[in-house]
Amino acid sequence: MRNLKNLHFENRKDYFLIKINRPKNLNALNQKTIEELILLFDFITKNSVGKYGIVITGEGDKSFVAGADIKEFVELDGKSSLKFCRNGHDLFNKIEKMHIPVIALVNGYALGGGCELSLACHIRVATLNAKFSQPEINLGLIPGYGGTQRLTQIVGKSKALEMMLTAEMISAEDALDYKLINNVVDDIDSGIKKVEEYISTFKRKGPNAIKNVIKSVNNYFDKDVDGFEEEIKLFIECVKTSDFKEGIQAFIEKRCPDFKGE
Ligand code: CAA
Repeated sequence: MRNLKNLHFENRKDYFLIKINRPKNLNALNQKTIEELILLFDFITKNSVGKYGIVITGEGDKSFVAGADIKEFVELDGKSSLKFCRNGHDLFNKIEKMHIPVIALVNGYALGGGCELSLACHIRVATLNAKFSQPEINLGLIPGYGGTQRLTQIVGKSKALEMMLTAEMISAEDALDYKLINNVVDDIDSGIKKVEEYISTFKRKGPNAIKNVIKSVNNYFDKDVDGFEEEIKLFIECVKTSDFKEGIQAFIEKRCPDFKGE
């Protein structure tokens, strides 16, 4: 993908790395960045052969994403705020439904829309200087990119309400304690090491099974879907793959499976 103004996109061995690249604004998500991310995730959906994950982080050492771009809020009214929310929801739903795991490497402020971006990812690794918050209440707002739902799903109602009602900043260690994140690492270098460990683990699994685990877990939160029934369908779908046969054969022969995604 070329001509990305606010994103740095790297095609790395086994995974894609995306950096939100507006460090002067602490990587705040303006509408242009949201649109670029939507295009990029559409591109990745069609071009992910040989990739086992996507890592999202922020440029610089101060911020992952400090929220939606507040400077653009001056123009916001009842009508334009619908488009504002829809764009964010479309992007974050897309991320949550990706067929390969998306890892947020949170390297500083993850505030408002930044915290919500991390919540839409499948795994969250945070550096020790990371700070999480949903501070929208300080602006007379509520989270608008899915935060009221996903934060509640992830940390539970009490903590979610406390975070959203107080706008308090949470340290990486507390975020780990609340199960908001999966890991804390010292710095960005150890963060890259950690996410690459995840990618190399995902590489050894069957891509169909990975895709169906994500789908099935997402179904739990979809009120229109019977997650148990869908699990049966997705299980059967896996049984019909060559990878399943390979997995069983490898177990019997006491060797590592060689999954081909077929
Ligand atoms: N939008 C636009 N610009 C932002 C920004 C944001 N969310 N966060 C920081 N910036 C800009 C600042 O305006 C500043 O730019 P200038 O130098 O041009 O003035 C630059 O980034 C550096 O920021 P600070 O000087 O404020 O840095 P600091 O270290 O003193 O403070 C901070 C850092 C505590 C993160 C502070 O910048 C801050 O509180 N930012 C706003 C965080 C916030 O409220 N985010 C939620 C947004 S609403 C939302 O996200 C709604 C939703 O659900 C989608």
